[in-house]
Amino acid sequence: MISSAPPITPTSRCSRPAHHRRAIISVTDRQAAARDRLAALRLQLAWGADEALAEAPQDRLRAPIPSATPLPTPLGATLPPDGPAVAGQPLAPPQAFRRGGGEAAARAWELAARAASREELRAALAAFDGCALAATATNLVFSDGNPDAGLVLIGEAPGAEEDRTGLPFVGAAGQLLDAMLASIGLDRGKVLILNVLPWRPPGNRTPSDEEITICLPFLLRHLVLVRPLRLVLLGALSTRALTGRSEGIRRLRGRWTEVSVPGLEKPVPALPTYHPAYLLRTQAAKREAWADLLALRRALDADIEKSQTLTKL
Ligand code: URA
Repeated sequence: MISSAPPITPTSRCSRPAHHRRAIISVTDRQAAARDRLAALRLQLAWGADEALAEAPQDRLRAPIPSATPLPTPLGATLPPDGPAVAGQPLAPPQAFRRGGGEAAARAWELAARAASREELRAALAAFDGCALAATATNLVFSDGNPDAGLVLIGEAPGAEEDRTGLPFVGAAGQLLDAMLASIGLDRGKVLILNVLPWRPPGNRTPSDEEITICLPFLLRHLVLVRPLRLVLLGALSTRALTGRSEGIRRLRGRWTEVSVPGLEKPVPALPTYHPAYLLRTQAAKREAWADLLALRRALDADIEKSQTLTKL
């Protein structure tokens, strides 16, 4: 289902003789490689790079990938105690958010379960009056991107720009997200973008646990309807809402884990990473965010390779 090609893809169909074809393929390769380098450069600019530090470029794609080791604890800050290792472990469902929420959450589960398509789900959300955020928001922010993409990115909640336009990730954080996607050969045509909450919390305040509990049934139903192959969890809130883990994003980021979605037969591999809004204000996290992007690209390439192998069998 993932339609993204790896960043460098030779032209496959060509009516010219083989000796001509090779030249055309290599030009196409070079163009694709140049496009990828430009996208990576644009990401560096978006991240604030303004100076070249070395005479010769370094191929950081070939350098060892920085590990997911947490950054040193800043003075005065205390991290929560280590949880069990995340990698490869099927997660317990996020029970914290699957109970409670009272009558509104019960209605949300019922309405979401009845939606047989994304259109019906959008209509159910638009008519739902169980979450107070709907009353203060200008627009419902349902999704953006390609529902058939197989890769779903999940953010927290709309901000001012998203509320105004009805589309997720269109403000400053969204522009950085676009640059991050482009740096690994992706764009909004190759991913689906959702939020835990489809309405903007007033003044961009942190959503309450009750609001998350009430909105989660709609997000989980959305996932059942699009059947993702992989998830990227953008930031602490979406990681906590979908995995139930609250150790903090610095501990959880960069390691593939699994999210069980009621209604899907198999848990979905999910990569928690930093939220782009956090990256806009935290220089020190960008190195790790880049490592996460490379981990995502590697996983997608492996998926593509595997699906090609399976087609040949
Ligand atoms: N931050 C989010 O988490 N989602 C958006 O849609 C915009 C900003």
